[in-house]
Amino acid sequence: MTSLPLQNKVAVVTGASRGLGAGMALELASRGASILLTYTSPTSLPLVDALRSRIRTPSHAVRVDLSTPSAAATVLSALDAWLGPDSHVHILVNNAAVEVVKPLGTITISDYETVFDLNVRGPLLLTQGLLPRFDPAGKNRIINIGSVGARCGFAQLGLYCSSKAALEGLTRCWAAELGRDGTTVNQVNPGPVQTAMLENIPREIVDGQKARTPVGNRVGTVEEVARIVAWLAGEESSWVSGQVVSASGGLEMY
Ligand SMILES: NC(=O)c1ccc[n+]([C@@H]2O[C@H](COP(=O)([O-])OP(=O)(O)OC[C@H]3O[C@@H](n4cnc5c(N)ncnc54)[C@H](OP(=O)(O)O)[C@@H]3O)[C@@H](O)[C@H]2O)c1
Repeated sequence: MTSLPLQNKVAVVTGASRGLGAGMALELASRGASILLTYTSPTSLPLVDALRSRIRTPSHAVRVDLSTPSAAATVLSALDAWLGPDSHVHILVNNAAVEVVKPLGTITISDYETVFDLNVRGPLLLTQGLLPRFDPAGKNRIINIGSVGARCGFAQLGLYCSSKAALEGLTRCWAAELGRDGTTVNQVNPGPVQTAMLENIPREIVDGQKARTPVGNRVGTVEEVARIVAWLAGEESSWVSGQVVSASGGLEMY
């Protein structure tokens, strides 16, 4: 029997209770990876349990608010409890994020903290915390999930779009910093995909995006984005680093 491409790999997927993160966890598991998935809302536990019942590889879930400074320690404790203190992580998908839709004039410091503490500081502190746990043999994979908004100007989405642009900056710098042992760091910028998050985006923005999407004038599917993430997580993408992939059916062409 041929082995699966991600067999013996351990992947951490943040925000995997629903939406894109759940699809990424499923896709990585279908390729053989063991999955540590994170979620934050108590109400998401049934979703997490249902997802784990569909995952055939070993999996473990940890509830953590990734916008807090102690989040990485919580994830590390969960990893220790699950696989032991000598275990390694091979794939990290920084997916969890939040959006605030507000005009410039009404944005508060609290709004700024809501978005930047999770979307920027979250990946920074989690990736930093996991550094000692990445496989010392190298060829590890860090995949940050951005948004086409990182390079667009959408009214009322300044905090969200700028947080994803900041993540791009981190992606490129980490790629420069961590590549020596074959580790790659990339970002996937999805266009609109039907999840809970999309419900909050003003309808006219999404309708305009669909109209400008060359591939089928539609939104993307979770699976279409998840397959790109899984490719970046595998051996086949070894010569791709510091890149941002627009996963948008050609809506935004980089
Ligand atoms: N959907 C789109 O159209 C679209 C487009 C471009 C980019 N993206 C990006 O794709 C990623 C996933 O988006 P999505 O649409 O799947 O979002 P979603 O359906 O809203 O799911 C968000 C996920 O993040 C988790 N989360 C929220 N706040 C958290 C916190 N403080 N700490 C830890 N986890 C937290 C949620 O956990 P709970 O379930 O426990 O609350 C959930 O698993 C995000 O980075 C988003 O910016 C999405």
